[in-house]
Amino acid sequence: MTERDRDFRAEATPGAREAEGAPNRIRLRDRDAELRSAEAAVDKLCRDFAAGGTEIGELLTFSGRPGIGKTSLLHEVRRIAKLREGATVLFARGGERQFNEPYHVLRQLLQPVLGRLEPDEFGQVMGTWEEVVGPAMGLKQPRKGARRLDPQGVRDGLDFVLTQLAPRRAPLVMIVDDLHWADPESLGWLAQFAVRARELPVLLVFAYRDDGADWHAESQEHQRAVAGLATRRHELSRLSLVAVTDMIRAELGEKAEDAFCYEFWNVVNGNPFQVVALLDQVRDQELEPVEENSQQLRELAVDATGMTLKSWLDRLGAATLRFAWAAAMLGIDIRQDLATRISAQTAEGARESVKELRKQRVLTTTPNGNLEFVHPLIASSIYNTMPEATRTGMHGVAAAEIENAGLGLLAASRHLVETFAGEGDDRTVRKLRRAASEHLLIGAPEAAQRCLHRALAEPPDDQDRAEVLYELGCSALLTDPVATVNQLKLALDPEEGPLRPSMRIDATFRLSEVLAHSGELRQAAVVCQEEAERTTGDPAGRLRLEAASFMWHAYRKSEEDGPARSARLGALCESLTGREAADRAVLALRAWDLTLRGEPSAEVLRHADAVLDNGRLPKGLGWTDNTWGFELPATLGLSYTYSDRIAQAERLFSDAIVQFEVAGWSGAHRGFAYFLMGLARFRRGLLAEAEDFLRRALRLSERISGKLPLAWDAVGVLIDTLIARGRSREAWELALEFGFHPPYHPTAMVLPDAASLYGKLLLAVNRPAGAAAALTEAGAQLDIRGWHNTVWAPWAGHLAIALAQDEPERARAYARRSVVEAERFGTASAIGTALRLHAQIEDGQQAVELLEQAVTHLGQSPAGYEHAVALVDLGAALRRVGRLEDAQEYLYQGIELAQHCAADGLVDRARRELANYGLRPNRLGDARETLSQPEWDIAELAVRGVPPQRIADHLALPLSLVNRRLAAVYRKAGSGPDGLAAALGLPPAQRDGSDPLDGPGGPDTVGDGLGLGR
Ligand SMILES: Nc1ncnc2c1ncn2[C@@H]1O[C@H](COP(=O)(O)OP(=O)(O)O)[C@@H](O)[C@H]1O
Ligand SMILES: [Mg+2]
Repeated sequence: MTERDRDFRAEATPGAREAEGAPNRIRLRDRDAELRSAEAAVDKLCRDFAAGGTEIGELLTFSGRPGIGKTSLLHEVRRIAKLREGATVLFARGGERQFNEPYHVLRQLLQPVLGRLEPDEFGQVMGTWEEVVGPAMGLKQPRKGARRLDPQGVRDGLDFVLTQLAPRRAPLVMIVDDLHWADPESLGWLAQFAVRARELPVLLVFAYRDDGADWHAESQEHQRAVAGLATRRHELSRLSLVAVTDMIRAELGEKAEDAFCYEFWNVVNGNPFQVVALLDQVRDQELEPVEENSQQLRELAVDATGMTLKSWLDRLGAATLRFAWAAAMLGIDIRQDLATRISAQTAEGARESVKELRKQRVLTTTPNGNLEFVHPLIASSIYNTMPEATRTGMHGVAAAEIENAGLGLLAASRHLVETFAGEGDDRTVRKLRRAASEHLLIGAPEAAQRCLHRALAEPPDDQDRAEVLYELGCSALLTDPVATVNQLKLALDPEEGPLRPSMRIDATFRLSEVLAHSGELRQAAVVCQEEAERTTGDPAGRLRLEAASFMWHAYRKSEEDGPARSARLGALCESLTGREAADRAVLALRAWDLTLRGEPSAEVLRHADAVLDNGRLPKGLGWTDNTWGFELPATLGLSYTYSDRIAQAERLFSDAIVQFEVAGWSGAHRGFAYFLMGLARFRRGLLAEAEDFLRRALRLSERISGKLPLAWDAVGVLIDTLIARGRSREAWELALEFGFHPPYHPTAMVLPDAASLYGKLLLAVNRPAGAAAALTEAGAQLDIRGWHNTVWAPWAGHLAIALAQDEPERARAYARRSVVEAERFGTASAIGTALRLHAQIEDGQQAVELLEQAVTHLGQSPAGYEHAVALVDLGAALRRVGRLEDAQEYLYQGIELAQHCAADGLVDRARRELANYGLRPNRLGDARETLSQPEWDIAELAVRGVPPQRIADHLALPLSLVNRRLAAVYRKAGSGPDGLAAALGLPPAQRDGSDPLDGPGGPDTVGDGLGLGR
């Protein structure tokens, strides 16, 4: 039976329910308030759900010292919830020994319900996350050739799955005991989910210790976060004297004297676990419960934590203790056969041990037939009395037995890491490495690292050492850049042993990637270049590193050797003969290089198009490809974005979002894809969407670490977007927050450096002097670099505006220069924008002419917002030369487009322009223009009194579609059915009782007589 099967039985079979509640049920004393609260929470959940509520989630917590009664309370809650019609109750518990087993708690919690879904529903619940959540929850094997999962991806996937699952299985009660021992992977998600659960029909019930023991720091933090979220929070207090006296008398009879009971209560400090333990002792010792004997109570009360090896030996005997050790090693939900083999007993011997351990109230049996410690305090005590050699040795046996039992390396590895190092055993190293890679496939890099660190300690032989270091470096790739850099450097260090040549290339590439994304672009480029020079026997590997070096250099904002390097890249391009991924990679880099330099965009596109196969990324250059990384397709998409082929770029970027999601790469990767999409949307003028993508990118990057290049890129475009939306103040604050001001530290990866952005921003908030200084500085840098793309870095056009007042001649020179450079690049959006900027420093007829040209160019580009600005500018310029009628027309057009772009600031500006000169700021809408042809078709029939169902039959459309279109018609016409004819300027219906679709003008003419309105 697999682990999963066992879990199913535990939770799902009806028989298990009764078995569980009945015999173990105890009378809970002094817990009325807690029980009422729990009952109320369950009732409320069920009631609100039945009343159609959805956002009704609550979090109920019980905390307190060990033995105070948390588990017992949870049992009651579970029982109460299970009695409710239709409720789904899920249960899991953390285990001290299971702390290092990734997703141990969530697997317990979710497998029973997810594993029982019918395939259809399973698909709906999983959505696109099946390959991420499936393996992590142990519901399926990772796909062949699967890549490591990003832990954040698993968490996001779980969010999706629970959002799908909760309403389907509502009301849903999720109970977790001993949360303080939940594995960090599970706890991290639970803490995050506790926030979202409020929006779902879910009741979370958590119990944890709050005895200040020094749990894992991260766990403590999560625990505190959870505690803060609780809507009902209960700290369990010790039992009262009355309650304890009751318990004593129930056990020993009414004869128990008050003084005895009082002393008893004092000794156990009102802790129910100790009450039960001490009562056992009193019974065993046949102590009379009278005042004289109360002095002996303190001696009798050795609590479990005070037990030594000798006291356990005395109590259990050697063989039985050995079995108990094996059980303690397994932790919770203990399989007797496994414990038997680990303790090296015969089946008969084991049965004897179990019998004795039950009698001694050490073990009990769970409903699914496995063993369990009566209380985790006892398990800890027994585990802690193991001599070290015995413990490490037994963990070794446990690892082997768990694997033999077919429970897999993932389960075995937590024992493997506990075994003795220093044997230099090859097999152990291999197993640990395999376990590490399995952990990466379920999104548990920390567990993978534990395995690899242990493998290093074994130690591996010299041949393998560098490889293990390399694997260690890669294991943190998605989560911990600093650790990755250090480990990869070690792996590449010849002192650590030889690394296979192909691996050296991989390791170097990975290292350069991490360096680059931490802002160390120069170092990234140098590392690749040096390794390329050292690589002799492998031309493909060498080309890969050379190309990577070009790539990182290309992202550097200041570089001594920019133009010469560009020339070398050009020469390398010319020398390419093949169509392999590496050749295409070089072409993609060249396209970006040409873009930045502002070379003719036709050349850019020629190179870019040669990279793609039918508009798609070729094999080997995909978004999730390990050889090249995602930077390369990103570079390609950027070239398309700036060359006005935005639709192509968006196709690539939306693939990126989906592929990262499917791969579970939810951190920096998905953040980067959002940024790219945000940039493309911004270029297109879909500002609201741009803002949304960019904010998502920013959130993801902040979740990873402070301020990454990704954050600066996202903020850079977000600032532009906010300015365009008329929210300059917000843009300004964001810029200050992210340090886009002198001295310029932040370096975005994709965007020009901070000085360009800062200058643009100063201009937007009307501080031309500061803007001129910043933009001059930015321009000087870019000139050295040989980068003249006016779309990517419109500094010259902006500088012209900043200088217009004080130095009109210099201003004009910059404006003209910018137009010339734009014409060289040659895209409609580049030329149009440069002309528009130029117009801003001209007056009268001159400005009108420049703007007329700008509008013509921009009208042929996908740059919607730029187009809108030019229209409004042209309207204003026309107004200034007194051509009011034309002015009005362009302003109206500008307003319409600006509204479409969600450029509220621009809409306001155009409206003010109209209003100030006595023009009507709103054109009176003509419904006839805004109705689409299919809407007209339906509107005409509706006006003639044809009911929707008949319209649907007549036009052979589904009724729902007809109704939707009718709704649009009413909205656009600004009228319901009655006034519709008048609103649309159609003759009113004749209501003479005849079927409007019969007779003259009936069915035959309706079919083609639809053009009436247009
Ligand atoms: N309110 C109570 N009244 C009587 N006995 C209790 C009560 N709470 C717990 N117990 C007993 O105390 C023992 C320890 O309780 P448990 O729920 O396991 O504590 P915790 O989970 O807080 O460590 C159990 O065996 C149970 O029988
Ligand atoms: Mg407990």
